[in-house]
Amino acid sequence: MGQVSVTAQRVAARRLTFPRAPAPYGDPEADQRFSRDVAGPVAMVDPHSPMTVHLAARTAYFDRTTVRALDGGITQVVVAGAGYDGRALRYAKPDVWWFEIDHPATQADKVARLARLAIPTPHLTFIAADFATDDVGAALARAGHVRGTPTLFLCEGVAVYLDLVVIVSLLRALRSAAAAGSRLAISVSAATTEERRRQFQAAVGALGEPVRTILPAEAASELLASSGWRKLPAPTERLARSARAGFLALGPI
Ligand SMILES: C[S@@+](CC[C@H](N)C(=O)[O-])C[C@H]1O[C@@H](n2cnc3c(N)ncnc32)[C@H](O)[C@@H]1O
Repeated sequence: MGQVSVTAQRVAARRLTFPRAPAPYGDPEADQRFSRDVAGPVAMVDPHSPMTVHLAARTAYFDRTTVRALDGGITQVVVAGAGYDGRALRYAKPDVWWFEIDHPATQADKVARLARLAIPTPHLTFIAADFATDDVGAALARAGHVRGTPTLFLCEGVAVYLDLVVIVSLLRALRSAAAAGSRLAISVSAATTEERRRQFQAAVGALGEPVRTILPAEAASELLASSGWRKLPAPTERLARSARAGFLALGPI
C-alpha cells in the first residue's frame, strides 16, 4: 500500500462525532483540530449506520482502556497501525512516552499535517514500518521503547487488513516487547451477520484496502495465546459486551 489509508481517514472523520472519554490531562482540542484537518475532504456518512455504531463503541472501548492504563501508571503506549488516531494528543500525560507505528505513506501524511497545524508532539515517536516486511520488535527498540517497562499496546481496526501470518508476527513482536504488567487491546472481527460482513468487505475493498483476515473473537483467543497473549477476564457486563463486539483485552503470558 503506497498511498495514505483512506479507511484511517474515515475513522478519524467519524470519531469527530463521537463522545470521548474525559481525562484530567491531555489536549483534546489538538486532537479535534487534527481530526478536522484529516476529515476535510472526506464525505460524512449516516450517523446511524451499523458501521458508525460499531466505530462509536470501538472508540469508547479504546478510550476507556487508554485512560484506565494511564491512570494506573502506565508510562509507555504503543499504537500499532495508528493511522490518524489522535489519542497521543488527546491523552498526552506528563512522563508518558507514546510510539506510533504505521505504514510509511500514512504516517508521513500524518506527520506533515501535524507540522502544518503547528501541533507539537515532543512526547511521541513515529515509527514508519510495514508489518508485512519489517521487524517491529527491532524498530521499537531502535526508537527507544524500553522493554523492561510495562506498556499499553493498542491495535485498533488493523488486524482485519493483515494476512494471518502478519497478524501472528506482529503479535509476537509486541509480546517480545511486553514486560509483566503490559496490556494489549486489540479489535478483531465482531460477531455479525454474513451480509454485513460482505458489505464491509465490499466497502473497504473499493477503497483499495481489502479485508485479508476475518478473525472471530473465539479463534482470535487461540491465535493470541499461541502468540504469547492471554485473554483477561471480562468481569463486568460492559466488558463482556465489548468482547462480543470483538474488542479484546490481553496480558502477556
Ligand atoms: C482502519 S485504519 C485504523 C487506524 C487507527 N488504528 C484508528 O483506529 O483510527 C488501519 C491502519 O492500519 C495501517 N496498516 C494496514 N496495513 C498495514 C501494514 N501492513 N503495516 C503497517 N500499517 C498497516 C494503515 O496504514 C491504517 O493506518
